[in-house]
Amino acid sequence: MDYLKIQGPTPLKGNVTISGAKNAALPLIAMTLLSNSSVHIGNIPAVADIRTLLKLLHNLGATFNMQGNSVDVDTRSLTNTKATYDIVKTMRASILVLGPLLARFGHCEVSLPGGCAIGQRPIDLHLKALEQMGAAITIHGGYVRAEAPGGLKGAHIVFDKITVTGTANIIMAAALAKGKTILTNAAREPEVVQLCQVLNNNGVAIEGIGTAELIIHGTDRRLIRIDPFDVIPDRIEAGTYLCAAAITRSTMKVEKVRPDHLESVIGKLIEMGFTFEIDEESITIIPTEMIKAVDIVTQEYPGFPTDMQAQFLALATQAEGTSTIEERLFENRFMHVSELQRLGAEIKLNGHIATVKGPAQLFGADVMATDLRASSALVLAGMIAEGETDVHRIYHLDRGYENLEKKLKAVGADIERLKE
Ligand code: EPZ
Repeated sequence: MDYLKIQGPTPLKGNVTISGAKNAALPLIAMTLLSNSSVHIGNIPAVADIRTLLKLLHNLGATFNMQGNSVDVDTRSLTNTKATYDIVKTMRASILVLGPLLARFGHCEVSLPGGCAIGQRPIDLHLKALEQMGAAITIHGGYVRAEAPGGLKGAHIVFDKITVTGTANIIMAAALAKGKTILTNAAREPEVVQLCQVLNNNGVAIEGIGTAELIIHGTDRRLIRIDPFDVIPDRIEAGTYLCAAAITRSTMKVEKVRPDHLESVIGKLIEMGFTFEIDEESITIIPTEMIKAVDIVTQEYPGFPTDMQAQFLALATQAEGTSTIEERLFENRFMHVSELQRLGAEIKLNGHIATVKGPAQLFGADVMATDLRASSALVLAGMIAEGETDVHRIYHLDRGYENLEKKLKAVGADIERLKE
């Protein structure tokens, strides 16, 4: 197993190029199941979760060719419709094949994802919506068995709660359904918006893109031809590097980004005293002498993202005064708190609210990554901790950050990947 050895404190300086968004690329790769041609996707991040989904499609009978950061996926010869436990258990986002497989073949089986380090993460809303579209769903032997032999039918679906992959799954199911699907209380994340835009550009009319109510006009099982396109930049990766600059009090430019996707993150950094130079595709963060304490509540887009909560928690340890960070989306997304405490952070956890007292002097220690974003928070803290920090179990990091240590090294971090 690999781990990261970080020597701190180190200031950073320079430019970081942001990769394509993992959470946009995953549904877009699942979307190739709706196509009657090979699909070329550019700006794919070379991260473990992407490889996992490609392997899943390959197991079902699809072919793919990944060259650098582009992939061609051809699902035309696909006949197997069972997504097995061995893959699904390694990545919950595998559930994204449920909607498109069912819509195209009229039946499929997908392993239930099971538990997760950040919370329960049920898929009841995905299943309920598919039932409303005419699917018969049973759970048997740990698998979701879905059947709609005559195809799915458009329906009016109201999500009780906003769900990102749930929205993506139902958009893809509705794309091949018969008639019109109205999806109310849909997720508005940029990753969902891109999925809608690509479908809309390639023969599936979608109204209300970017709003909480989508109207999807299904093709009645006619597969679509999808033109080549590029995945949008990863707003969470960009936000993580902005936090890396902020915590190390460095000037840094993140390039190839969509600043409009980062408004809530930049807004909080401004509240904390940082200043910015923002161009169309780049953001430069300028440090502040005194970092101000802040109050954060995680919310669905366009609110403050839960995927940036851990990184801001690390940053808040360096702010003057008391910050509060409230996690509203996942009930167990504070596993990094005890690891940050090992480095010397003063954090009190009360249910889903963390209270952080700063500034705290951090000292290097051995820490363990528990999920993807928690891992990046430990790396950020390691860069300002006095002495050596070893971050273990970084396979979590490799799921979603492309070349994290290479990118950080290039801007001056003292960071090395080693084998346990
Ligand atoms: C997506 O997960 C992201 N994953 C997550 O990113 C992200 O943290 C999350 O959205 C929230 O923004 C991908 O895009 C692949 P949800 P998702 O369904 O879709 C509850 C990362 O680090 N819920 O929007 O699985 C659920 O329990 C990851 O990159 C139900 O109750 O999240 C949660 O409390 C981790 N029933 C809330 O909704 C359902 O059927 C939001 O979850 C579905 C969800």
